[in-house]
Amino acid sequence: MTKHIVVIPGDGIGEEITSAAVSVLQKIDEKCHIGMDFTYKMAGGTAYDSCGSPLPQETIDAAKKADAILFGAVGGTQWDNVKPTLRPERAVLGLRKALGLYVNLRPVHVSDILAEYSPLKPEIVTGTDVLIVRELIGGIYFGDKCESEIHNGAERAWDLENYSVPEVQRITKFAMRAARKRRHKVTSVDKSNVLATSRLWRRTVIDVARDYPDVELNHLYVDNCAMQLASNPKQFDVIVTGNLFGDILSDEAAVLGGSIGMMPSASIGEATSLYEPIHGSAPDIAGKGIANPCATILSAAMLLRYSFNEDKAAAMIEQAVDKSLAEGWRTPDLYKDGFKKADTHTMTQVVLSNI
Ligand code: IPM
Ligand code: MG
Repeated sequence: MTKHIVVIPGDGIGEEITSAAVSVLQKIDEKCHIGMDFTYKMAGGTAYDSCGSPLPQETIDAAKKADAILFGAVGGTQWDNVKPTLRPERAVLGLRKALGLYVNLRPVHVSDILAEYSPLKPEIVTGTDVLIVRELIGGIYFGDKCESEIHNGAERAWDLENYSVPEVQRITKFAMRAARKRRHKVTSVDKSNVLATSRLWRRTVIDVARDYPDVELNHLYVDNCAMQLASNPKQFDVIVTGNLFGDILSDEAAVLGGSIGMMPSASIGEATSLYEPIHGSAPDIAGKGIANPCATILSAAMLLRYSFNEDKAAAMIEQAVDKSLAEGWRTPDLYKDGFKKADTHTMTQVVLSNI
């Protein structure tokens, strides 16, 4: 049975990086005979410009029917003044909600090769291997909000944070199962000294964890976790947290490895899943052909692993990326004297030749 992949390049460098990842998937298909086909759909600011919506219904319908979705990035300064409900970012949030993508996986693995690019000392980061499991369709991102109202004579705005027990249970179960395939440790991150949602979060996590006695569980407040990620990142195996804290901590964790241009992600739902780099649309370098395609190529590896159970094919891509770095190839975000300079096209060709 052919597997249908919907590709949503989006804005900025989205087109360049998704086409790199598609060529890698096509090469894998030649070798492993998975049988994949690719359909392209619009989202983000470019979709808004051409049809008035950042997330056309046609894109949602195609994504719902897809076996997996490969997503580039959305956004750009030219849409800064578009009204909030039509901003390019609504495309990402709308797709997550429409497809029920409740888990966001953001692995950060600092290899020996990348440790020297880290802003932290190599002895602190080398060997870091963290999987951030972020709840993706609840919390303050999706609660009621008010853009502006007058209260006691002053203008104010508000966003409501809420979490239900079932929402916390399902993300915790996912994190526990993920930990069982790794080092059997889960750190739950909240702000239960202040927030009611965090107190419900913590007691629900503790309840769920009783069914996973082989997994060690600890709890950190989010401010402390932010500090620990910078001071002792190797202590972490799986981190499970809510939508907003996960957004912030995953950007922090992404710099541990030196370049956000290397960091993939998977957003997993019951029916289908979406794969995208952690970085954004980088409007400043769009169209120049110099973006690092590795985050999207590694997202394609996650696609093979999580959507199609093709562990071997996924590992082939990951090894090809590692080998290309080991050979000294560097895109501008990682380039230093003494290395081989690669633009997007060259880096992609090198990865292809290493598969
Ligand atoms: C991310 C991004 C998104 C988020 C934005 C673009 C809405 O920062 O995927 O981390 O906040 O979730
Ligand atoms: Mg973010």
